[in-house]
Amino acid sequence: MANPCRKLLFNIYMGFYCSTIMPKMCICSQLSMSSTDPFNKDPGAFPVATNGEPFPWNKLRLPTMVIPLHYDLLVHPNLTSLDFVGSEKIEVLVRDATQYIILHSKDLEVMNVILQSEEDLRYRKPGKKLNVLSYPAHQQIALLVPEKLMADLRYSVAINFQAKLANGFEGFYKSTYRTRGGKTRIVAVTDFEPTEARMAFPCFDEPLFKANFSIKIRRESGHIALSNMPKVKTIELEGGLLEDHFETTVKMSTYLVAYIVCDFNSVSGTTSSGVKVSVYATPDKWSQTHYALEASLKLLDFYENYFDINYPLPKLDLIAIPDFESGAMENWGLITYRETSLLFDTKTSSASDQLWVTKVIAHELAHQWFGNLVTMEWWNDIWLNEGFATYMELISVNATYPELQSDDTFLDVCFAVIKKDSLNSSRPISNQAETPTQIAEMFDAVSYNKGACILNMLKDFLNEEKFHKGIIHYLKRFSYGNAKNDDLWSSLSNSCLGDFTSGEFCYSDSKMTSNTLAFLGENVEVKEMMTTWTQQKGIPLVVVTREGRSLRLQQERFLSGVFKEDPEWRALQERYLWHIPLTYCTSSSNVIRSHILKSRTDTLELSENSSWVKFNVDSNGYYVVHYEGRGWDQLITQLNQNHTLLRPKDRVGLIHDAFQLVSAGRLTLDKALDLTRYLQHEASIPALLKGLEYLELFYHMMDRENVSDVTENLKHYILRYFKPVIDTQSWSDKGSVWDRMLRSTILKLACYLNHAPCIQKATELFSQWMESSGKLNIPSDVLNIVYSVGAQTTVGWNYLLEQYGLSMSGAEKKKILYALSTSKHQEKLMKLIELGMEGEVIKTQELSPLLYVIARNPKGQRLSWNFLRENWTHLLKKFDLGSYAMRMIISGTTSHFSSKDELQEVKLFFESLKAQGLHLDIFQIILETISKNIKWLEKNLPTLRTWLLVNS
Ligand code: BES
Ligand code: ZN
Repeated sequence: MANPCRKLLFNIYMGFYCSTIMPKMCICSQLSMSSTDPFNKDPGAFPVATNGEPFPWNKLRLPTMVIPLHYDLLVHPNLTSLDFVGSEKIEVLVRDATQYIILHSKDLEVMNVILQSEEDLRYRKPGKKLNVLSYPAHQQIALLVPEKLMADLRYSVAINFQAKLANGFEGFYKSTYRTRGGKTRIVAVTDFEPTEARMAFPCFDEPLFKANFSIKIRRESGHIALSNMPKVKTIELEGGLLEDHFETTVKMSTYLVAYIVCDFNSVSGTTSSGVKVSVYATPDKWSQTHYALEASLKLLDFYENYFDINYPLPKLDLIAIPDFESGAMENWGLITYRETSLLFDTKTSSASDQLWVTKVIAHELAHQWFGNLVTMEWWNDIWLNEGFATYMELISVNATYPELQSDDTFLDVCFAVIKKDSLNSSRPISNQAETPTQIAEMFDAVSYNKGACILNMLKDFLNEEKFHKGIIHYLKRFSYGNAKNDDLWSSLSNSCLGDFTSGEFCYSDSKMTSNTLAFLGENVEVKEMMTTWTQQKGIPLVVVTREGRSLRLQQERFLSGVFKEDPEWRALQERYLWHIPLTYCTSSSNVIRSHILKSRTDTLELSENSSWVKFNVDSNGYYVVHYEGRGWDQLITQLNQNHTLLRPKDRVGLIHDAFQLVSAGRLTLDKALDLTRYLQHEASIPALLKGLEYLELFYHMMDRENVSDVTENLKHYILRYFKPVIDTQSWSDKGSVWDRMLRSTILKLACYLNHAPCIQKATELFSQWMESSGKLNIPSDVLNIVYSVGAQTTVGWNYLLEQYGLSMSGAEKKKILYALSTSKHQEKLMKLIELGMEGEVIKTQELSPLLYVIARNPKGQRLSWNFLRENWTHLLKKFDLGSYAMRMIISGTTSHFSSKDELQEVKLFFESLKAQGLHLDIFQIILETISKNIKWLEKNLPTLRTWLLVNS
C-alpha cells in the first residue's frame, strides 16, 4: 500500500500502511455544539433528574465547593457473569458550605450512599444515608445532604455501585483472547482517558481534582490483579475468593487510575534507581515481551536522569491488552498497550515495527512526568501532555537507541500536521473543549504533532541546554499539581542555568550560545512569541525575495487549497501574525544565522554574495518557505550540481515545501518535480523516501481516478528512475534501520507497480512459505510484500486468512491483514469487513485500520464508503462518535476523494448526521480536504501529463 496516510492519530497502525512514521489525524477547528446535543440544553435552567426532581447543578464542569482528597476503592469484577460490583469511600474537603455533592457517574447503578462527618468517624457513628439524583445527560449524580456541609471540614462519602463490564474499549471493559489451544480467556481492564473513569466508579472525573487512591481488587485464584501501585497483601475471603490490596497512590488525576484482572505472564527487571519494571502479555505471547523490557529499563533510566526527578512509584508495569482502541495509555505505574505497540517478535517484527514499539514506550514513559506528575488544568491544553510526550520521543529514543536514527522521523511528525494545519478548518493548539466528544476530539494532530513541533522549534531557538533546564524547572515547580500554558512559558523564560530566579529572561548567562545572544537586543519574550503559536491556528508562509545581498521577508498565513488569486484568500489572512524564529544559511557560509520575524514584512542584509539562500535550517521551524524570483531555480541548480552542500534535513524540507507550495498554487508542479530529479544521486534515505512518497501519492491519485495514461507513464517513470535503487535491494533484514525501511518501501512499491523481478521473487517466497505450512522464516522487512503478492490469488488469499486466525504474532497479523486488503476482488474485501464487524476472527479494534486500507484500494473505495453509510448505526454501537476509531473510519473512507460527485455525496452524508445532532470537527476538515484534492487535480493533471511525456 502506498502513500497513504500522512495521517492520523493512529500511529498505532504504522507499518500497517506506512513504512515511515504515520502521524496523527487532524480533528479540529472551532467549538461547535448542535442544538440537539444533550450537553447544550438550556444552560440557564436547572435540569431535571431521572426521577423528575430538579437536579441541583446545571454545568458540565463540577462545582469546586467539595474536593476529593482520598478514594478507598474496592472492585470485584466477575469474569463469568461479566459484571462488577464496587464500593468506595471518598474523603472530601468542603471548601464552601453546600447542600449537595456533585460527582461524575456514567452507566453505573448507584445503590447506597452514606455520609459520615469527621465526628461520625471518630465516634464510629453510622452516618446518614443520602438521596441520590442522576442526570445522565451530564454524566453526573447529585448526593443530597439533609444538613449543610460545613466549610473547611472533611467528610467521608461511602458509595456502593455495580455495572456490567463494558463491551467497548472504555471504562472498565471486557477483553478476550484465544489461547494457542483454542480456548477463549477473559480479561477485565480499564481505560479512562479522558472522561471514562466515571464509567468504573463515581468520582470527581476532572484532571484538576487530584487525590490519593487506595485500591483493592477481588479475583479468583487463577487470575492476577494489577493496579497502579504494588500489591501490599492478599486476603483470602470466604468461598476462596482473593482480595489484593494495593499501596496508596501518589496524588493523581482520575483518568490515570487503572486496574486489570487477567491471567497473563510477565518478565521483570530493575532500573539503576531500583524501580521494578515488568512487561505482561498473554501466556502465548510472553516470549515477545523481552524487547519492551529492555527498552523500558533504558528509557526509564534516561528520563530519571534527564528530568532530574526520580520516577516516584516503586514499580512500573507495561501490559499488552488484546482489545485496545488506541495505541497505548499512560496510567501511572500500569501502562496499557495495544499488542502491536508493545510486543516484538524476532521473526515477524520489521525495522519499522521496532521503531514504533520503541517510540510508543518512550511516549508513555514520558507521560509519567509530562501528564502524570504535572497535568494540564483542563483538556483545552491537552497538548501540554501529548505535545510534550511526542517531543520527548524524539529526545529519549535518540539518546537511548541512536542506532534507530529516529531523529530523521521527526520531520514527518511536523509534515503530517502541516497538511491539516494549512486548511482553514484547523484549530489553535489550545482550544475550548467542554463536552466529552469535544474533549475526545482534542486528541489530534494539532495537540500531538504541532505541539511537539513548536516545542522543538523553541528548543532550537533557546538552545538545548536552556530548554532542558526550563522543562526541569516546570516539572519541579508543578509536581503533583496542574499547569497551563503560561506556567510553561514562564518556566522556560526563567531557566537561567543553575539558578531558577523568577522574573525576566536570563540574559547574563555566560553559557548562552551565539544563537540566543543574537536576540539580546530584541527583548524576546518566550510567552509573547509562543502565544502566537498556541492561540492562533495555522502555519505561516515566509516569502523570501532576494535582490543582491538584500533579502525581503514577508509572512502570511499558509493556506493550501486556497490560492492567492481566489477571492476568499484576503479575508482568510486577516489578523494572523506570528513571531517566527527564522534560521538561514547561504551558499557562501554554513554558519547558521537567526532572525525573529515579528512583523508582516522585514529585510535582511547578507554579509557576502551567495548563489542561494536556504531558510529553516534542518527544518526545525514550523513554517513553510517560498523563494520568489529565481530562488527555487538557484536551489535546484545547487541540488543538481552538488546536493551535499545542503544539509540532509534541508533537502527533505525543500522537497516537502515545494510540493506544499504546489497545493497552495504558489509553485508549479513541474518545478517541484524538477527539484526531485537530483534524487538519482541522493544517498540520504529520508530525502529519497520523501521524493518517492510524493510520486507514490500522485500515482495512487491517478489510479483511483482512472487516469490510465498518466498512471502508466508515472509507473514507468518511477520504475525506471528508481531502478538502480530497486535492483540493489536484497530480500533480507540486513542493514541499518533506514536501509531496512527503504527496502520495505521501495520493494512494496515495485511489486505494487507490477515490476516483474519483484513479483517473481515475492511469488517464489510465498510458494515456499505455503509449502512449509507457514514455517519458513521470511525476512520481516519483506513479509508485507510477500504476503501482498501472495494474496492476489484465491488460494493464497484463503491460506493467508487461515494463517491470520492461527498466528500468535500481532506484527504478523497486521501484515497479513494488510495483504488481504490489497485484493482486487470486492467479495473478498467485503468478507474482511464482515469479519471485522463480527469481531471474532478479525477483532473490532482492527475495523478502523481495515476500512482505512480498503478505502485506499481502488477496488475498495466505493465499497468502504457505501459500507460506512449503510452501517452507520451499527458502527456507532461499537465506537463513540468522537472516538479514535470512529474518526479514523470517517476520514479514512472519505478524505482521499477527489471528484465533485464524491464531495457532494460526503456533504449530504454529513448533513444528514448533523440533522440527527451528530457533529464532529473533522466533517469540515474532510470537506475541505476533498475540495483541495479536486482543485489539485484540475490545476495539476495537465502539468503532470506533460512533465511525464517530457521526462519519461
Ligand atoms: N494519552 C494517550 C492515550 C489516549 C489517546 C487517550 C486518545 C485518550 C484519547 C496516549 O499517551 C497516546 O498518546 N497514545 C498514542 C500512542 C502514542 C505513541 C502516540 C495513541 O494511542 O495513538
Ligand atoms: Zn500520549
